[in-house]
Amino acid sequence: MTPKVIAMAGKGGTGKTTTSALLIKYLLEKKLTPVLAVDADSNANLNELLELEVCSTIGAIRKDLKGDMPSGMTRDQFMEMKIQQAIIEDSGFDLLVMGQPDGPGCYCSANQYLAMTMERLADNYRYILVDNEAGMEHLSRMNLRSIDYLLIISDPSARGILTARRIAEITDPLGLVVKNKYLIVNRAPEPMTPELEAKIKEAVKESNLPLGGIFPASNELVQQEITGTSYLQLDNNIPVVQTAFATFDKIFG
Ligand SMILES: Nc1ncnc2c1ncn2[C@@H]1O[C@H](COP(=O)(O)OP(=O)(O)O)[C@@H](O)[C@H]1O
Ligand SMILES: [Mg+2]
Repeated sequence: MTPKVIAMAGKGGTGKTTTSALLIKYLLEKKLTPVLAVDADSNANLNELLELEVCSTIGAIRKDLKGDMPSGMTRDQFMEMKIQQAIIEDSGFDLLVMGQPDGPGCYCSANQYLAMTMERLADNYRYILVDNEAGMEHLSRMNLRSIDYLLIISDPSARGILTARRIAEITDPLGLVVKNKYLIVNRAPEPMTPELEAKIKEAVKESNLPLGGIFPASNELVQQEITGTSYLQLDNNIPVVQTAFATFDKIFG
């Protein structure tokens, strides 16, 4: 099985992790499984939206590998074992957390391990979803053969959408092979005024990015986050889930 790779991009706080959690819910309910979710943000929090506890991370494994190996084990075997332990298994999907980088700002070796891990694990999954932090640089270091779908998340402002466009434009210089890019405008005021909608549509047009969808601001998401309840349990009838699912139907259906 060759998995399809989906990655999130966008400024901090725009909704990458939120969209990731909603997309995992979608893939599970549509039985587009098994899914590997990779939390590639050093400040990992996708697990919280899924109500899962993280025991180990790629960053922690990398540290362990610097020390002595247990006797009778090669470094490769040790890594393999540790990675198996770090994969959080849930029904229909697994979660792998990247964790803290090596030194200040340096993800290099953690990324190498993740790249090797992905290489080994990839064929077990139908979809690999990477929840990324704001920068695109470490997506390029993760050594994904290609990204099938890049979802660029923006706030509902012309300036935000311009930033999304710039992010979309740097994938080529970074050497990332991206097959499909979609813009998702998140946290639109609900109800939306026709003026704002027109403004968003105009900015989207200028961005040259196909619009995946416009997700409404949602109190239910805020509530779910406060109570620490998994986003997988969100009511399918609430507007944000309906919009997200319709968007994903269009993109992945
Ligand atoms: N559609 C939305 N409605 C209400 N709150 C949202 C929505 N999308 C995101 N948020 C909130 O905004 C904050 C940042 O979202 P998050 O997904 O963590 O962004 P990112 O991963 O891009 O940094 C979170 O507290 C999240 O609950
Ligand atoms: Mg995030």
